[in-house]
Amino acid sequence: MKQGPTAALGSHVAIRQTSDLPKLPAPQAGKTLKHFLDFAEALQSKKEFEETKKIVNEFVVKDLPKLQDLLQKRAEALPNWLTPWWLNIAYLAARTPLPVVTSPGVVFPKFDFSTQEGQLEYAAKISQSAVKFYLLAKNDQLKPDMAGKSPLDMAQYKFLFGTTRVPKIGVDEIKYGCDYKEPLQHIVVIRNGHLFRVQVLDNNEQPLSISAITQQLQKVVSESETPNPHPVGIVSSDLRDKWANVYTTLKKDINNLQSIETVEKALFVVCLDKASEPPVGYTEKDEQSRQALHGGGSKSNSLNRWFDKTIQFVIGTNGYTGMTYEHTPAEGPPVGALMDYICDQITGNAFVVDGPSASTNVSRLDISTNEEINKKIEKSAKTMDNVAADLDIVAHTFKPYGKNFPKSAKISPDSFIQMAFLLAFYRIHSSLPPTYETATLRKFTEGRTENIRSPNTAAATFVKKMVSRPPTPVSEIYEALVHATNNHKKYTVDCMNAAGMDRHLLAWKLIAVENNLPTPEIFGSNIYQQLNHFQVSSSQVPTRNFIQMCFGPSALDCYGICYNPQETELHFMISTFKSYGSTSSKKFAKELNKALIDMKSVIHKATKENSKL
Ligand code: COA
Repeated sequence: MKQGPTAALGSHVAIRQTSDLPKLPAPQAGKTLKHFLDFAEALQSKKEFEETKKIVNEFVVKDLPKLQDLLQKRAEALPNWLTPWWLNIAYLAARTPLPVVTSPGVVFPKFDFSTQEGQLEYAAKISQSAVKFYLLAKNDQLKPDMAGKSPLDMAQYKFLFGTTRVPKIGVDEIKYGCDYKEPLQHIVVIRNGHLFRVQVLDNNEQPLSISAITQQLQKVVSESETPNPHPVGIVSSDLRDKWANVYTTLKKDINNLQSIETVEKALFVVCLDKASEPPVGYTEKDEQSRQALHGGGSKSNSLNRWFDKTIQFVIGTNGYTGMTYEHTPAEGPPVGALMDYICDQITGNAFVVDGPSASTNVSRLDISTNEEINKKIEKSAKTMDNVAADLDIVAHTFKPYGKNFPKSAKISPDSFIQMAFLLAFYRIHSSLPPTYETATLRKFTEGRTENIRSPNTAAATFVKKMVSRPPTPVSEIYEALVHATNNHKKYTVDCMNAAGMDRHLLAWKLIAVENNLPTPEIFGSNIYQQLNHFQVSSSQVPTRNFIQMCFGPSALDCYGICYNPQETELHFMISTFKSYGSTSSKKFAKELNKALIDMKSVIHKATKENSKL
């Protein structure tokens, strides 16, 4: 994900002490600037790089002492110096639409149903499983996630349920479900653009039985056979200020207010979708990722969404199901864990069948609109159609090997895959892309993310040796590959231990603004701009089941790549914007395949040669 605007610096975001994990320390300045030079050198000519060195030296003398001192003080004062800033900059203050760049989609494995009865059965099963997971998270009964031997902050799990990003002019507000005093017992089901309140827990916090949920869903179906002519939820897919204006107007009506508050307090949303077909040249899996990301446009299911809700389960008609998730409260791995849990429940048929029945009736959540709002609904629907038509997303599984192969070659699979991205990109564009890759900071209290940026000089050397003509001897390429992957892994560990570069630079920039200091020259430099214009935006979200997350590219010329390296296969979701013209998801998938095969071949040949010596 790309850094957002630097407005609204986050001082008003609620700070909560969520764990007894260590506080995020302020990174060391020397290390950050060394990384800056290394990443700059990989992208610059010798002459340009000399200029960058001058800018860095000036920064060290002129700006650094004051800024680092201020950051040190902030790090001492707050449980996490970064997270309040990050919440605002990456999310709440960003005015851009949630789909398709900010809000990821997630796709379950194909389940075995093809009728409306099956659709409701799976909607009930997914809902009940999610409710059980909610109770585990709420009652601190989830096993802590680990990074090696270090436990990770688990707060994000509690933020997933009952949470809504409320649109506000300038900066949105996040309302967490765990902050409500009253128990949350319902979900919201959307069908044909109509919203309904459906009960899923009883007064003793017991999940309702599958048949009790299914009966309510049948009622929803019987009351939503014709499309809602004014499905106002589509405006939640548009620019945040536009939606904030509509939201404020809607809430002035007392009945609307009640309906909207019911949506805000819903544990999650379930979208009962109509059938959809993949566009020509795309697979059913590609189509499901489109449904999960944006709903396929207004003729398909985009009018059947409420994008502010953290969790929306998307239930198709042909065995495909998934989720649209609003990113503000949590990263992908807790969402992946929820999806894995649901898959396990479905595989194990582990449902509450003799649980309580509903004690409240299904109620329709009517939201009345006026002519002006109806026009905005139409406009937002058109905007969504354009976005949906422009996004080229491909679900790609690499089958020749999985993370077992790099592991057997004593190479980090994640670093190996990142090098394959760089090589694939270079072969298409003859240049190296500034690359974003998410690293978790959840070893620290309230931790969110750092960017495992690449390429550095080691990665650039490897890629250039791979493509050089005449060919470089295979032993040299192998050495460069080992060096580049070890370097990437070392930087990954740095990032996860609060010694990454990106958030530190951001901190200096923000703290200068907050303290009315002049913005240091380094932040206006061409290289800083270039480094922050990502052409590959990537994220690993591993799961045990065949679950794939996806998101849109963070810039017009960028590739958005979410990947799930499993033991014997590597799953990728690759997205691009068609309107850019020079990128193509399918072409990237093809080059990625080739890169992965060529890299394996280098290792095989080089290690064979070595064993002969
Ligand atoms: N030799 C042999 N095996 C190795 C190895 C080497 N040199 N280096 C790593 N491995 C093994 C690891 O032990 C691990 O083994 P496992 O499969 O038994 O668990 C496996 O290879 C994978 O390790 P690696 O590929 O290095 O990556 P990782 O699993 O440590 O993940 C990150 C790296 C950066 C993705 C992870 O730390 C992270 O931060 N994840 C969060 C990302 C996130 O938040 N995404 C969502 C954003 S919305």
